[in-house]
Formats: sequence, structure tokens, C-alpha cells
Amino acid sequence: MLDVQNITKIFLKGTPNAHTALDDLSLHLDDGDFVTVIGSNGAGKSTLFNAIAGTFFCDSGRIVLDGENITYQKEHLRAKSVGRIFQDPMKGTAPELTVAENLSLAYAKATRNLFSFALRKKDTEFFRTRLAALDMGLEDRMHTKMGQLSGGQRQAVTLLMSTMVTPKLLLLDEHTAALDPVTAQKVLDITKTVVSENRITTMMITHNISQALHTGNRTIMLSGGKIVLDLQGEAREKLTIHALMELYREKSGKLLDNDRMLLSDMESPPTSEI
Ligand SMILES: Nc1ncnc2c1ncn2[C@@H]1O[C@H](COP(=O)(O)OP(=O)(O)O)[C@@H](O)[C@H]1O
Ligand SMILES: [Mg+2]
Repeated sequence: MLDVQNITKIFLKGTPNAHTALDDLSLHLDDGDFVTVIGSNGAGKSTLFNAIAGTFFCDSGRIVLDGENITYQKEHLRAKSVGRIFQDPMKGTAPELTVAENLSLAYAKATRNLFSFALRKKDTEFFRTRLAALDMGLEDRMHTKMGQLSGGQRQAVTLLMSTMVTPKLLLLDEHTAALDPVTAQKVLDITKTVVSENRITTMMITHNISQALHTGNRTIMLSGGKIVLDLQGEAREKLTIHALMELYREKSGKLLDNDRMLLSDMESPPTSEI
């Protein structure tokens, strides 16, 4: 499904501040893979997503999606087959437009039929059904401006917008990190449902190690722009959170910078940190 072959990305190339964010990285994803991505800040996780989504072209290497060489395909063309959700719930939506208008716009973009932007009754019904399935009371807020929804509601709508026309690949960049724990869990549950119902090949960056091990079928770990660990099957199932963190230390020579946050599933952090 996705073949990333030996990609390298150097920021500020040719300057004293040159930084190799992706270092000869290769990755193959099978159809329907749901891969969680972990690694400390600056490891290159978002840069990997940017490379796949076409935010920039890499300095070397090749990217093939579903048999098509997209290495030099422009971002807006890839957007049709690559869905993306970011940490910031405001990103990717128009706050001044209503929920229905945002959905309509996303639908028109994905189908490349810009004339369908005008809301039709049958579209409204279709959106209402999809919103109701999220179980967040959004079907009654279709005419509310996006900017007035809660963070969790916005992420749920964004997820719907990205998957209304099934993408070949869905990239989730810490899309639950800005939400409170209960809402984050809800958005994660919705994500799992949408991904499995539509069999979408998915990559999800997360800072939560437990979430990484218990979501999807495979976990990769990045450090210094390289994949230092790739876990699936029995090896992944058997791995404890502590063992994974230990492996990270071994492979990258450093601590996961937010170890304490990662452990928050097991040990309640002091209230002041929540
Ligand atoms: N547009 C950019 N220009 C310069 N440096 C960048 C840019 N984007 C990312 N970097 C650098 O590349 C490295 C990897 O960043 P990133 O992929 O965002 O890390 P993370 O794993 O936390 O998502 C970091 O050192 C970051 O500062
Ligand atoms: Mg990042």
C-alpha cells in the first residue's frame, strides 16, 4: 500500500544549521495496516508525515502510494488520497463556517466536485446520519459554527471530514493530545471504529505508550530520523510498557522525554499537572 524508500530530508541544507530530520528512512505498509508511531520530540515523526503528505519534497528517496509514485506529486493532489488530522482541533477546518458547511466543503474537495459545495437536502441527511454515528450529539449542531464546538467535537468532525470519502492513507498526528482524557478516549474509540469499518491504512503518532501498544497492529519507533524499532505480532502483544521504554533507551541512547506523561496510565500524575 505505502512504500517509503530511503527518504532523507535535510532542513536548512547547506547552512551551518543543517539538520537531517529524516535519515535514509524506509517503511512498507500493507493494506489495512494501522501503525502507531512513537519517539521523543524532534525524532522526525511529523516530518515523516509531512514527507508522505507532500508538504515538501525529500532530498532523496522515493514514495509510492498504492502503486503510484507520488515522490514529486504536489500536496493538494495527494490530499485526495491522504487524510490528515493534527493535534490542534482548529487546524483543517473553517471556524466561521458551520459544521454542515465544513462537511460539505470537505466532501466537495474530496470528490473534486466544487459545484457540489451548495448544501443539498440529501447531503444534509447523509451528514446527519454520519454525525449521529459519532454519538457526540453533533447531529443537532449541524448549523453551529465549527469554532463554537468543543475540542473533542471538532476532532470528531475533522475525522469525519477526512474519511467521508475513504482515503488510501490516514495520518493522525497526536490528534487526541490536546483533549482531556475522557474526550481523548472517546475520539480514539471513534477513530478505531472509522478506521476498521472502512479498512483505512492508518498511521497514528502518539505520546501515550499504552495507546501505542494497544491501538492498531504495529508500532514503530523513531529516533534521529530513523526507524529504530518495528514491532508487530506476538512480539508486540507480549511487550509491556516498561519493556518498550527500556527498548527505546537502548535503541536511541536517550530517555523518552516525556516518560512521566507516558506512565500516566499506570500512575496518576499530581493534579497540578493535569
Ligand atoms: N520546517 C522546518 N525547518 C527546520 N527544521 C525543522 C522543520 N520541521 C522540523 N524541523 C526539525 O526537524 C526535527 C524533527 O522535527 P519533527 O518531525 O517535527 O519532530 P517530532 O518527532 O517531534 O514530530 C526537529 O529537530 C525539528 O526542529
Ligand atoms: Mg510532531
